[in-house]
Amino acid sequence: MAAKGYAWWQSGVIYQVYPRSFQDSNADGVGDLLGILARLDHLVALGVDAVWISPITASPMADFGYDVADYTGIDPAFGTLANFDRLVAAAHVRGLRVILDYVPNHSSDRHPWFLESRASRSSARRDWYIWRDPAPDGGPPNNWLSEFGGPAWTLDQATGQYWYHAYLPEQPDLNWRNPQVQDAMLEVLRFWLDRGVDGFRVDAIHHLFEDEGLRDNPPNPDWRPGLSPARRVIRAYTMDQAEVHEAIAAMRRVADAYPGERVLIGEAYLPIDRLMAYYGAGLTGFHLPFNFHLLSTPWDARAIAALVERYEAALPQGAWPNWVLGNHDRSRLASRLGPAQARVAAMLLLTLRGTPTIYQGEEIGMTDVPIPPDRVQDPWERRVPGLGVGRDPVRTPMQWDAGAGAGFTGAVEPWLPLPRDWRSVNVAAQEGDASSVLTLYRALLRLRRAEPALSVGAYASVAVDAPDVLAYERRDEATGRRLRIALNLGDGQRVLPGFALGARILLSSYLDDRSSSIQGAIALRPAEGVVVELPVKA
Ligand code: NOJ
Repeated sequence: MAAKGYAWWQSGVIYQVYPRSFQDSNADGVGDLLGILARLDHLVALGVDAVWISPITASPMADFGYDVADYTGIDPAFGTLANFDRLVAAAHVRGLRVILDYVPNHSSDRHPWFLESRASRSSARRDWYIWRDPAPDGGPPNNWLSEFGGPAWTLDQATGQYWYHAYLPEQPDLNWRNPQVQDAMLEVLRFWLDRGVDGFRVDAIHHLFEDEGLRDNPPNPDWRPGLSPARRVIRAYTMDQAEVHEAIAAMRRVADAYPGERVLIGEAYLPIDRLMAYYGAGLTGFHLPFNFHLLSTPWDARAIAALVERYEAALPQGAWPNWVLGNHDRSRLASRLGPAQARVAAMLLLTLRGTPTIYQGEEIGMTDVPIPPDRVQDPWERRVPGLGVGRDPVRTPMQWDAGAGAGFTGAVEPWLPLPRDWRSVNVAAQEGDASSVLTLYRALLRLRRAEPALSVGAYASVAVDAPDVLAYERRDEATGRRLRIALNLGDGQRVLPGFALGARILLSSYLDDRSSSIQGAIALRPAEGVVVELPVKA
């Protein structure tokens, strides 16, 4: 529910569903739309406001849906358009918004547009993709590298030219400098908006344009063996090019033409100063350019406090913040930080100022699942094995209960393996456990919903004289109500003299009763986070 004067995507919380792994309804080992529908009540009970679904459109699955062969058709693995319409209706009945993934940078190499483009140099759609002659030695036109390893150019023997792909060769980049491409891709947005979707998460937006002059990317002096081979160069000419902002503004104009606060969220891994430009001049760009900086900041109180300050200070006038702590591309919290700090991280994510996005499975503290070599699915891991870039470990099936297939599937084997601990770590087990991670997420989301100070209030850092402790205040401007949050990012007890005298603890990440008011100094237990309510000033 939106706080007064705020859009739903400002006060609300987004939950990411990775559809292959959420719920399988037809026992083929792969999740699907009817599966998501069957689990909507989990999201209602959790207390989120919107579900963002990773790609469900027709795809050969070279990159599991991020290679789209039909932008307006549902992949049969996930179901049908009729299933989709039912899902949207069922979500809306429950007050949940639906956000789709939109992949504008590249299509699949099986998309009819690419097939036509590839067919001949004189094809009417040749210019819909990025074709260039070989270098004089016959090699690729320049030194650009694919994110997933190898050159970013693949030679089409038949026509003697290379096509450009920021990711896999099976993901040719669309040429957004061609107005017909722009029109066709904006039409895709309208198709789904007409069907009632509430917005889009826009994939890989920082890759939308490349330097027209094809200048070589400079070498990266910080690259060393063990890092992704794509990082051997600095992507000066393949990322974050100025023209992207006009393309985003065009997407925004389409969304704005629809009633009902449709949201555009941009995926761009960029430094804070560059990221801010993605709000667009006069806020005509993304409503929320994803802020991934917590993913790369050390789990250290001072570093995080400095990050929040820097991010808050950099926001353009009127721009709304957002925070991300996990997704289908990044290691899970409980694996990155350990189970105790994963609880602290949940409190951080859900008490900072700005729209949080929760990745499926984080609410039960799922961990990265080791994938045996013969079960590897991720094309990145296959092309660049052994460096730890593979994303399968964070894409394993949702653990619903202790029954066969973890309640995810009736198939003998799900598409990715379950972890060893799924019989104890699952939604059903945690629902009945007053101190579980799931109970903590629900309590945090309930509190956030009940307290405008948390969902839309102002943010101010609070200095505390205790190592490892991150503290800040959230204030509801309308009522003056003030909440303080203190998070112990260390594993020792931490005493905070004078932090919140006379205050009452509303919630501890330990979920035990600490409701009596604080008389002396508050002592945080190892890896404890608290939300406290400051007394109203007389
Ligand atoms: C970012 C997506 O999150 C990732 O999963 C995908 O592989 C790339 N974009 C390419 O679309």
